[in-house]
Amino acid sequence: MSIDYNETIPNNVNLADDRRLLRALERWQPAYLKWWEDMGPVESDDLSVYLRTAISVEKDGWANYGHVRMPDYRWGIFLAPPEENRQIGFGVHKGEAAWQSVPGEYRSELRRLIVTQGDTEPASVEQQRRLGKTCPSLYDLRNLFQVNVEEGRHLWAMVYLLHAYFGRDGREEADMMLERHAGDIDRPRILQAFNEQTDDWLSFFMFTYFQDRDGKYQLASLAESGFDPLSRTCRFMLTEEAHHMFVGETGIMRIVQRTCEVMKEHDTDDVRKFGVIDLPTIQKWMNFHYSICLDLFGQERSTNAANYFSMGLKGRYQEGKIDDDHQLDGAVYNVPAFEDGKIVSLEVPAITASNERLREDYTKDSQRGVNRFNKVIRDHGIDFELTLPHEAFNRGIGAFVGVHATPEGKIIDEADWEKMKGEWLPTDADREFVLSLMVPVVQPGKMAGWIAAPRRGIHGQPLDYEYVKFH
Ligand SMILES: [Fe+2]
Ligand SMILES: [Fe+2]
Repeated sequence: MSIDYNETIPNNVNLADDRRLLRALERWQPAYLKWWEDMGPVESDDLSVYLRTAISVEKDGWANYGHVRMPDYRWGIFLAPPEENRQIGFGVHKGEAAWQSVPGEYRSELRRLIVTQGDTEPASVEQQRRLGKTCPSLYDLRNLFQVNVEEGRHLWAMVYLLHAYFGRDGREEADMMLERHAGDIDRPRILQAFNEQTDDWLSFFMFTYFQDRDGKYQLASLAESGFDPLSRTCRFMLTEEAHHMFVGETGIMRIVQRTCEVMKEHDTDDVRKFGVIDLPTIQKWMNFHYSICLDLFGQERSTNAANYFSMGLKGRYQEGKIDDDHQLDGAVYNVPAFEDGKIVSLEVPAITASNERLREDYTKDSQRGVNRFNKVIRDHGIDFELTLPHEAFNRGIGAFVGVHATPEGKIIDEADWEKMKGEWLPTDADREFVLSLMVPVVQPGKMAGWIAAPRRGIHGQPLDYEYVKFH
């Protein structure tokens, strides 16, 4: 059976003109669809969802809205338009023409970057697959599925690069993207945060706030890449990523809003009995998700990161806006470290510190939304502040592995950590409580009791629009 991929895979990469590539993707597509069926959103096949589908990268083309049966969603391959005469912006090749094919000497590093990024995309779909059963509203259910199909499309984006530019080992890597699974004991996803469970909607909103934001920073630094197809792919993915973070930020905001309303109404902070999530519990979820996301940036000092930079494969955030030589000759940078039981700051060659620098950009960005959550709390006259925990808190990678620190960054011993960690991180009882609130609400316009309604609907539709049809 021949499939007209021009029809089924919208793309702007002239797929129709490249028979070999077409055949390779043709072989991969059924495996992808099988994966979607087995590992994607549970029991979603019959749902018709008001989705945004990209059909081109032009302003009016990448956001087409309409009801789509989920398995019929058209996962397209899109690269941002080429920038004429684009040059490599950093590293030893700075000023040379951007590569249109894989530079042979950097092949394995480049493949590794693409595989690591690609692996996170289907992982998040797997992590979120059961959430549809407990949606707080049709609006939220639709947003969940929108994020899921776009993560699926991001996998397509990375698989396209592997197939188009890496030959046989690229095809093997593409197959393996569908064989590793989030949380699988034998074949887990590459990065640990993508093996954690996302079983409740507070976790989902924290995930899209913190973990998708890590995605933004990784994509932004890959968008600087001297390998032009990767740069163009990531630039387009970033437009979609913005929506995922919007879902996270407004989701947390709406939960905070609802909690504050109930606190005021009953004049108490003991609000669990009223079916909303108390602020200290929201803080615990924040502590958990933020700390595991800091790990995603890797070691504070990293030879890999230095190589990626000097090779011109992965730049810094908004490289072009940084005022320096973009080669970091002799430049230094301060990174945190743990020495003699104390947190110290070490001056190291800047080229080895690009993970840390990206993490700091990420932290600043994360803080901005937290400030907005705190404004909601303050506006209700409530004396409580959500905070991002210290970088030494609950870390599994980097300088603070094996170190016990409070969310404020005070070093404590193991015994105190064991005694206190239930105050800082979600306990089984906390998870049980939050899960107990996760009862599906599917009447158009209705919201679960623990979350406020959003300010507006999607794409100009009213809040009580039937964003998901079950028939
Ligand atoms: Fe993504
Ligand atoms: Fe995302």
